[in-house]
Amino acid sequence: MENRLYDRDIVSIKDLSKSDLELIFDTTDRLKGMKERVELCKGRILCYLFFEPSTRTRLSFESAMLSLGGSSIGFATSKVSSMEKGESLVDTIRVVDNYADVIVIRHRLDGAARLAADVASRPVINAGSGSEEHPTQAIIDVYTIKKEKGRVDGLSVGIVGDLKYSRTVYSLIYALSLYDIDIHLISPQLLRVRKESLYGIDVDMHEYDSIDDVISILDVIYVTRIQRERFPDRQEYEKVKQSYVVDSRVLKHAKEDAIVLHPLPRVDEIADDVDSDRRAMYFKQASYGKDVRAALLALILNEKLDVL
Ligand code: NCD
Repeated sequence: MENRLYDRDIVSIKDLSKSDLELIFDTTDRLKGMKERVELCKGRILCYLFFEPSTRTRLSFESAMLSLGGSSIGFATSKVSSMEKGESLVDTIRVVDNYADVIVIRHRLDGAARLAADVASRPVINAGSGSEEHPTQAIIDVYTIKKEKGRVDGLSVGIVGDLKYSRTVYSLIYALSLYDIDIHLISPQLLRVRKESLYGIDVDMHEYDSIDDVISILDVIYVTRIQRERFPDRQEYEKVKQSYVVDSRVLKHAKEDAIVLHPLPRVDEIADDVDSDRRAMYFKQASYGKDVRAALLALILNEKLDVL
């Protein structure tokens, strides 16, 4: 199988084709449980530069790298790096480029990952850039849909919540536009999707104020957290906080075989009473994160995956 991901940056999901996604999904399934995977990144180093908080993304990248026989170095808060002393992002990248085989970056600014990729000679993976994109989360999201629904084409996907500032939403819409699906966008008016960020994206999209208007036709219910930290105006946040919640009452009208996804962290937009519903798939989705990221690292760092 030709490996088109070898030595590539993953800055935007738009850089990937449908067959690139299928290659990652296929590799995820083949590597899972394979003991030879520990040979795939032996002696290789992943450097993570996280300028924003993270639990799943950073730890699943680290865990994935360990499972491939590699190691990780890095920092999970900018406070401990020399950027605190005034060093630029460009200089930081130039230096860590010599210490690692792959760089994973999360930054509060749109464009930071692209800048890092331009400067670094090593492959750079965007682990979240401002409210712009979070491509590896979208790869996990589509993988989860495929695993749990058996297909992606032909589904109706509802995306609920903070569609304005959630970077996972944009990467997910871009990824889903490669498939034959309907997207239903559900949010308060103030949190509607940024139309300019969807320019040129060819997919059927419909907007709603309330999930009750559309829940009965959804195969996938993808819920997002209000991105409090990205609001330029605190009062705008006060107007929308706790404006939507998916709970067992809402789910009563959902399809029996719908699935509920969330990139996590969840705050209060999915009630705890949903956790015991068999349609709740968000913790499984998080567990797929490690497997998908391992496949991605294996593909980026090996021209040929001889063990497969
Ligand atoms: C998301 C993010 O960082 O954008 N988290 C994640 O990586 N799963 C979602 C969020 O913070 O709401």
